[in-house]
Amino acid sequence: MTGCGGAFAGKSVIVTGGARGIGQVIAQHFAAAGAAVAVLDPGVAGTETDGAIRFHACDVADAGAAARCVQEVAARRGRVDILVNNAGVLRDNVIWKMPEEDFDAVVRVNLKGPWLMCRAVAPLMRQQQGGRIVNIASRAWLGNFGQSNYSASKGGLVSLTRVLALELARYGVTVNAVAPGLIDTPMTRALPPATRDSLIAAQPGKRAGKPEDVAHAVAFLASEAAGFITGQVLHVDGGRSIGSSVF
Ligand code: NAI
Repeated sequence: MTGCGGAFAGKSVIVTGGARGIGQVIAQHFAAAGAAVAVLDPGVAGTETDGAIRFHACDVADAGAAARCVQEVAARRGRVDILVNNAGVLRDNVIWKMPEEDFDAVVRVNLKGPWLMCRAVAPLMRQQQGGRIVNIASRAWLGNFGQSNYSASKGGLVSLTRVLALELARYGVTVNAVAPGLIDTPMTRALPPATRDSLIAAQPGKRAGKPEDVAHAVAFLASEAAGFITGQVLHVDGGRSIGSSVF
């Protein structure tokens, strides 16, 4: 992590969806802080190495692929200390115009993917008697117009976080969620300009956040210092979750 020296020296970290956007910055921050990082993302050509970051072409919602990639990382590094479930997709529409495939596609990546990844790392972290899982939810878990699929997937991810916090606490494993608000990434840059403008107008600070804002929160929850914090949702949203600031 920039400015954190070797705060994660020797740690084995998995970041899903780390080929671009928020996940890329999270992966870079862990690598800069001394960790060996495995990025799991179908958006990479194959297994390539870029400094301390190793890329695995992997669809995390494919049970076989998720388990294989976790085993590969564990075999190479001997352990998995930190899992960041960041991969996520959007398919927005009002429910009366939303095809069933768009519900399935979003729930598959945003909820089933993290569930599969947690199922794959849980035995390792239990055996190690320690670990950190950080799930990237969204402020939208509280509810967003036009996001019945996305909000439900992120609400489910928050529930998954809470359950796994209970199941894994006795093994020294914490499980928390970070819920970003509007962050400037390829995902949000792809939104229609009018939608983006109205989202920025609804922000208390009238601006989007940066991927680094999310990466810092993830680093805190993944650190030794956060060992007694589990099952929590940390909103990184410039205050958007407090309520309406339209005036
Ligand atoms: P992005 O679209 O820029 O990047 C997402 C990455 O996930 C891509 O590299 C993509 O290839 C990867 N991915 C997609 N499906 C995958 C799969 N099946 N397996 C593995 N990787 C997969 O998105 P962004 O903006 O960086 O978002 C990252 C996370 O943050 C997502 O979970 C998103 O829902 C969440 N988030 C983003 C916000 C924003 O304003 N950008 C706000 C709130 C939450």
